[in-house]
Amino acid sequence: MSDLDDLRTKYLTAVNEAADEATLESARVAAVGKKGEVALKMRELGKMTPEERQTAGPALNALKDEINAAISAKKAALGDAILNERLATEWLDVSLPPRPRAQGTLHPVSVVTEEVTAIFADMGFEVKEGAQIEDDWHNFDALNIVPEHPARAEMDTFYMAPKADGTRHVLRTHTSPVQIRTLEAEGAPVRFIAPGRVYRSDYDQTHTPMFHQVEGMAIDKSITMANLKWTLEEFVKAFFEVDNVELRFRASHFPFTEPSAEVDIRCSWDKGVLKVGEGDDWLEILGSGMVHPKVLSNCNIDPDQWQGFAFGVGIDRIAMLKYGIPDLRGFFESDLRWLRHYGFRALDVPTLHGGLSA
Ligand code: DAH
Repeated sequence: MSDLDDLRTKYLTAVNEAADEATLESARVAAVGKKGEVALKMRELGKMTPEERQTAGPALNALKDEINAAISAKKAALGDAILNERLATEWLDVSLPPRPRAQGTLHPVSVVTEEVTAIFADMGFEVKEGAQIEDDWHNFDALNIVPEHPARAEMDTFYMAPKADGTRHVLRTHTSPVQIRTLEAEGAPVRFIAPGRVYRSDYDQTHTPMFHQVEGMAIDKSITMANLKWTLEEFVKAFFEVDNVELRFRASHFPFTEPSAEVDIRCSWDKGVLKVGEGDDWLEILGSGMVHPKVLSNCNIDPDQWQGFAFGVGIDRIAMLKYGIPDLRGFFESDLRWLRHYGFRALDVPTLHGGLSA
């Protein structure tokens, strides 16, 4: 039976040395497969004498079992090795702390725009949007700003390249053209605000070439200056979150309103911190007035039947005041440290019932 011993040594060694499953499988086929060497030996049993068969049969079966057992053990070992290798390379430290809070913040301009919108929506104002590129008619003429009017130069307008017919568009210098757009499209009555970007060629601590305004307008049959005062007082109280606020209406001039008023609020500066509603200082926050009859007639609205008020507020300006931000230029520099310091948590949406800046 020495050839059985040879077979045993040959195949147990092959199985043992198989480095992967494919090699192991070919060893299995060669040894105990249907045409493997052990199977061939089994076929020889038929030619043996019954006595020879009695010893050779069990010996062959035992060899077959032994090789099969060795193959199973090797298979398991190879599987373990693959798993161990994966475990060693692909690991995850579940004891690490979770990531810190989300990095993104809402820009103060976005938050203040939401605050202003929430306040005026509560008073029944719709929200309109206008284009940032306007023509002379909507940005100036229709608003009664005639070509020689100093406001046209004062506004430091950015002009686009002239078209073939000589006209040129402008980057809107204020949100007031949305008054014209809305009146032309809808007629009277209207009651809306229009927040958005505006552009003027100007740059210092309180001026940037792009900034934000919110326009407001209410036109109906019997709207008066008293309605304007009440509306603005309610707005300022809600926005600065104070119960008492004193407004000062200072006579002023805008081509698109008559009479016109600039509005100041009573405030104090205590060690650089602004307090609204008390103190001896006054701070200008917006321009306003009764809509000029010419603006209405420019939009085909009969000024003998309709009248109303309009106002324009600098959003960045009131954001600086409310949140104590000293320099306007930081608003638009995209400095992450600035945004982390002055930004708002991403899910804090201002509502009147939830508290505007709570
Ligand atoms: N458009 C003006 C500006 O940019 C602001 C303004 C003043 C708007 C009075 C108005 C208004 O609607 O009535 O300076």
